[in-house]
Amino acid sequence: MDFFNYRDDGVLCAEDCALPELVAQHGTPLYVYSRATIERHWQAFDSAAGEVPHLICYAVKANGNLAVLNLLARLGSGFDIVSGGELARVVAAGGDPAKVVFSGVGKTAEEMRYALELGILCFNLESEAELERLNAVAGELGKVAPISVRVNPDIDAGTHPYISTGLKQNKFGVPIERAIALYRVAAKLPHIQVTGIDCHIGSQLTELEPFLASMDKLLVLIDRLAAEGIRIHHLDVGGGLGVNYGDENPPHPEQYAAALKARLTGRDLTLIFEPGRAIMANAGVLVSKVEYLKAGEDRDFAIVDAAMNDLIRPSLYSAWMNIVPVNKALVREPKRYDVVGPICETGDFLGKDRELTIAAGDLVAVRSAGAYGFSMSSNYNARPRAAEVLVDGDTAHLVRQREPLEDLWRLEKVLP
Ligand code: LLP
Repeated sequence: MDFFNYRDDGVLCAEDCALPELVAQHGTPLYVYSRATIERHWQAFDSAAGEVPHLICYAVKANGNLAVLNLLARLGSGFDIVSGGELARVVAAGGDPAKVVFSGVGKTAEEMRYALELGILCFNLESEAELERLNAVAGELGKVAPISVRVNPDIDAGTHPYISTGLKQNKFGVPIERAIALYRVAAKLPHIQVTGIDCHIGSQLTELEPFLASMDKLLVLIDRLAAEGIRIHHLDVGGGLGVNYGDENPPHPEQYAAALKARLTGRDLTLIFEPGRAIMANAGVLVSKVEYLKAGEDRDFAIVDAAMNDLIRPSLYSAWMNIVPVNKALVREPKRYDVVGPICETGDFLGKDRELTIAAGDLVAVRSAGAYGFSMSSNYNARPRAAEVLVDGDTAHLVRQREPLEDLWRLEKVLP
């Protein structure tokens, strides 16, 4: 559930703020997030985990705005990071490094050093070579690095190939058989402390079965390790729980956690979740202005001022995202449009063949754009990145100003 609803007069609001008023103040394209929705989604995970010892490590990559991270930190959230940059964001936002898990296949020595100095909770390792490097870096600093091995359970998450990560052909994790060997080596290294096990099989999963199948494989592994005297303290199930963009029907965090917990009875394990999308997607919209309606030979186009640089999901994954008029009370002829941006690429579209009641100058909102929206945006075609507003009841806070044009070339230099 989210807090984006139409008012009685047909105007779409974020909590108690009308989107047209936010646009009048901040312009378009504009990302608008809802505090109540973010908090509700986080609490849903927290209460679903309930009495089981647990930590929710929000996946920063979904939306790393400092205001978002800060709200979650205030709730007691941990964070899943994949770069030194994301760790620096967490710290800048007031997050606790002791609640940070570090994922990713390519951690540099410098990133390891930074994370060790801050004392993060766990390094989620993805290869033998990474273990070796981490042991060496921790040794140089006179520290012991807590680790988990990311296991690749070879399970089909049934999601888009670009966001499926738990199959043996993917670059992620270590196959189960090799994980045992890796733990054996890790357990003997002087600057490594084995603490957990983790996996992440993909994103936007709409079924429970793949999660459960991979958890079962991890539990078998935990028992095999225990038999060798290697004790695992936490089980990190990754992120990946899907959301409703349209008519998907993903499990609620409550169902998801209940099914996981049922498998943990009698075990002394802390459960770690790394949700990104499930917390942020439906907590944000991208508001854009219709610049032109253009009749084509074959179809009609609505040319809006947001583009693939602002929201790349439709172009990159053929993702379907709901596009709605911001004021549905305006009297317009309903028509089908391809909703496209101004970028010079045929792949620049936000939606295809959508029935909309709009005219030039109207506002549209792309729903469920709070995750992997702004965080994947770029400056392609010299387009400054959008502004971001976080709404809290009837108050709207500008949490990132629209990028000034000069900033696009601030770091560049012409030849003398
Ligand atoms: N943990 C790890 C190790 C991950 O790689 C990811 C996402 C997450 C957690 C969070 O997954 P979530 O709960 O958000 O599904 N840009 C794509 C999604 C890429 C996800 C990458 N990894 C999209 O817009 O669909």
